[in-house]
Amino acid sequence: MNEIIKLLQSHRSVRKFTDQPIPQDVLGEMIKCGQAAATSSFIQACTVIQVEDTGKREQLVGLAGNQPYIASAARFLVYCADMNRLQLACDMHKSEMLSGFTEQFITATIDCALFAQNVLTAAHSLGIEGVYIGGIRNNIQAVTDLLELPHLVYPVFGMCLGYPAQNPEVKPRLPLSVVLKKDRYQDDTDTQTISEYDEQVRDYYRTRTGGKKDTAWSEQIAEMLVKEARPHMKAYLESRGYLLK
Ligand SMILES: Cc1cc2nc3c(=O)[nH]c(=O)nc-3n(C[C@H](O)[C@H](O)[C@H](O)COP(=O)(O)O)c2cc1C
Repeated sequence: MNEIIKLLQSHRSVRKFTDQPIPQDVLGEMIKCGQAAATSSFIQACTVIQVEDTGKREQLVGLAGNQPYIASAARFLVYCADMNRLQLACDMHKSEMLSGFTEQFITATIDCALFAQNVLTAAHSLGIEGVYIGGIRNNIQAVTDLLELPHLVYPVFGMCLGYPAQNPEVKPRLPLSVVLKKDRYQDDTDTQTISEYDEQVRDYYRTRTGGKKDTAWSEQIAEMLVKEARPHMKAYLESRGYLLK
């Protein structure tokens, strides 16, 4: 395995950080790695807001469902899907921009995900780690107001970054045979395969929590998917000018 493959396969979310700062120029290089990701039709629809204001960080801790690492991380970034500035390009050429398409929601959101994962990987290569924060969508309108996001901009997720003060194990993923199919979708995953994987996940949690938690993967999914998933999102996205057509 080469170094990049080793790096990618050693990803783990980190939620405890040292006080070591991430210099602005280092952050800038990482953001340039994000910009280097592929982008649908060259739209470059990701804007990153680095939240430095400690008051805003504290508010975000609460808005994201009490996640204290938003405040304790050296950096906290909010990745925004941004169709707003595309309006400028259209105005420059006197074209009337059509917005509201679900397709545009998909492409702008994908742009953010690709951008962010490049940032996280670049960070990792420099000894900096972190965690995505989808929790900012719990109170997405309040986050939108706090960051003064204009129309056609929505916060997809946040990301804590810092030098790690914990060393979690890599979380086991589903077996390759479950996620990689040939030529067609073979719906051939059986409960035996999932049960074996569940045992690996239980072991992972036992080790990570000193035996306090030993939840299986399928158990987690079964608990999660009986709950509504942020049902406010549809109306929110429509109000931002997405998902209208
Ligand atoms: C889009 C996205 C949003 C996430 N949101 C949160 C979050 O709000 N809080 C958190 O602690 N972890 C969050 N995570 C981290 C996942 O829980 C984590 O990636 C997953 O459990 C796999 O663990 P690993 O990253 O250590 O391999 C998020 C991950 C992604 C990709």
